[in-house]
Amino acid sequence: MRVVVTAGPTREYIDPVRFLSNPSTGKMGFAVARAAAERGWDVTLVAGPVALKTPKGVKRVDVTSAREMLSAVKDALADASKDDVFIATAAVADWRPGKCAKSKLKKREMDGVLRLVRNPDILKSVKGVRKVGFAAETKDVLAEAARKCREKGLEFIVANDVTAPGCGFGTDTNRVAFIGPDGAIESLPLLSKLAVARRIVGKLSR
Ligand code: PMT
Repeated sequence: MRVVVTAGPTREYIDPVRFLSNPSTGKMGFAVARAAAERGWDVTLVAGPVALKTPKGVKRVDVTSAREMLSAVKDALADASKDDVFIATAAVADWRPGKCAKSKLKKREMDGVLRLVRNPDILKSVKGVRKVGFAAETKDVLAEAARKCREKGLEFIVANDVTAPGCGFGTDTNRVAFIGPDGAIESLPLLSKLAVARRIVGKLSR
């Protein structure tokens, strides 16, 4: 089975020294790639800018922006079949600056307004494979995650409350719930990210 995993943040540059991003470290996504490789699956990890070692047996493609991540995912899934899997753990920036200045902007060149344009939704745009998403939420966690699961056509979504202790960005642990398109919820206790990843991979193997 072939699996493509996205991990980490994306960076959306304003000029060569400034960007919009988020605190994702890639730990969750790298754990998923490792768990999938442990099963003997053919794993491609598309990683935003993170400081982590590539798990054993995993092919890695480094990217910076959401548009680069989309292109790398499409390449990795180019001849994929309906049994192959896309697991999107990355915290992709939904917006990017309308233009990136070629040289560092001077204060006098900035007027306090940054015009943003929408980035592509990578997970939604991928078709023809099994898809698993993550939902990083801060309120109405289960309802918001269920909505994303339906809207993005997922086999299931992994919901995490990124404000809960030991959960979300940068932690070694996570507390998640798996939610299916029919709204069925399977809540897991606080586990290491690797244990969460193994549960995801186990669910996909059933
Ligand atoms: O990297 P860590 O520090 O270990 O942190 C882990 C994590 C908090 C990043 C991870 O557990 C997590 O929640 N990842 C999803 C983050 C996110 O962007 O969630 P979202 O609810 O905004 O997006 C929903 C889904 O759509 C996600 O699968 C996301 O990868 C995908 N998406 C979102 C926007 C976009 N433009 N393209 C996408 O593919």
